[in-house]
Amino acid sequence: MKRIGLGVTGGIAAYKAVEVMRLLQRSGCDVTVAMTRHATEFVRPLTFRALTDKHVIVDDYDPDNPDPIAHINFSQNIDLLLIVPATANIIAKFANGVADDFLSSTYLACTAPVMIAPAMNTTMWEQPAMRRNVEQLRTDGVHFVEPVAGELACKTVGTGKLEDVENIVAQAMALISNAGSSTRMDESGSGSTVGLNPSQHFFNESNTKRDLEGERLLITVGGTREAIDPVRFISNHSSGKMGFAVAAAALARGAEVTVVAGATTVEPPEGVRVIRAMAAAEMHEAVMREMPKSTIFVGAAAVADYAPSNAADTKIKKEGRETMTLQLTKTPDILADVARNRHEGLIVVGFAAETSDVIEYARSKMEKKGLDIVVANDITQRGAGFNSDTNIATIISRDGSSRDLSLRPKQEMAQDILDVVAQLRARTTEGTYRP
Ligand code: PMT
Repeated sequence: MKRIGLGVTGGIAAYKAVEVMRLLQRSGCDVTVAMTRHATEFVRPLTFRALTDKHVIVDDYDPDNPDPIAHINFSQNIDLLLIVPATANIIAKFANGVADDFLSSTYLACTAPVMIAPAMNTTMWEQPAMRRNVEQLRTDGVHFVEPVAGELACKTVGTGKLEDVENIVAQAMALISNAGSSTRMDESGSGSTVGLNPSQHFFNESNTKRDLEGERLLITVGGTREAIDPVRFISNHSSGKMGFAVAAAALARGAEVTVVAGATTVEPPEGVRVIRAMAAAEMHEAVMREMPKSTIFVGAAAVADYAPSNAADTKIKKEGRETMTLQLTKTPDILADVARNRHEGLIVVGFAAETSDVIEYARSKMEKKGLDIVVANDITQRGAGFNSDTNIATIISRDGSSRDLSLRPKQEMAQDILDVVAQLRARTTEGTYRP
């Protein structure tokens, strides 16, 4: 299901945003609404609240707001930020980085694609200041649904009327399902990454370098489930988004990709071979079987370190027990076993999900497990780690070099990780590095 953040600003066309919201819902989208203060003069938040069954955010500081940092959480849990209608004021704020209310702060914090449907008086729309702001936003990667000509609320006729709501929704749906369009954070402007749903095949292959041709990448993805009994298990919050993003990026760069996937909340990208392995032991077995054919191994899965020693064959009953003790046994360390048994030329990449002393722990994992590269995520940072569409990490290589990656979509981070892998491969080919 696509998640749309619908931003409504203060123009007479604000009432049409209700229809846009209904059409998006009918197209299968989950819509969350944010309004500017002026928008609430035209349509009451209650209208959107009743139809979405969700709090409508107007002001971060409103005591009724259930989320104290709503602009961050709102902006990072959507696949598209759609502004209908957009006033001259909000366009000017977005273009100039002004963040003095909820919606403008949300725009600044947002990594998802942004689409703007302006509506205003013709003279305002044609002002040089407006032209500059629109051009600036286009350069920043923002998409526009241009206003059309017609009779305006001010009784004049000219360009400035909000596009038909059906057309706005059609363009929004095309944007989020278009595998070739870019997020606003795609600095290269190459259009190589799209919205944030990793179930899609997100790389535009014609624009992506093919520097992994001939490589066979094996990757573990998702969280493992360690059975307690036939209905209960121990697991973690991994969604599979990071691992699938690496798999999709490697495929687009020419590699053959095999994914060994545990439990994931998103679908694997098209075109990769997927082997499901839910428990750590199964994942270990699948990886050991596939490893001899591989040239790159990436351990992106969150593998349980311990599993119940004796899973019950039948459901454990709670009657007569106030407490229960589970005995756990260490699981096989897949990554360490791959590195220990590696064949010549196999590049081994691990992840480290840490909550403190991130770099030190990650370096020590790299040394203990014998890795070429470790990607260290500080999972305490907002927008990083489990289940988010974005990540923040440091890529550390065995030769001592490191690269800090600030907040960015996981698809973009996947490309950064593969850049480091490709550099290492170039060095092995020229004989200056031995994995
Ligand atoms: O899936 P997402 O929601 O997108 O979240 C991404 C992520 C946070 C899961 C991912 O980026 C990540 O950090 N994965 C590793 C999580 C983890 O289990 O870290 P760790 O520090 O416990 O393990 C270190 C490395 O050893 C990892 O590469 C892990 O795959 C591997 N490992 C650990 C234990 C084990 N028994 N076998 C392993 O292979």
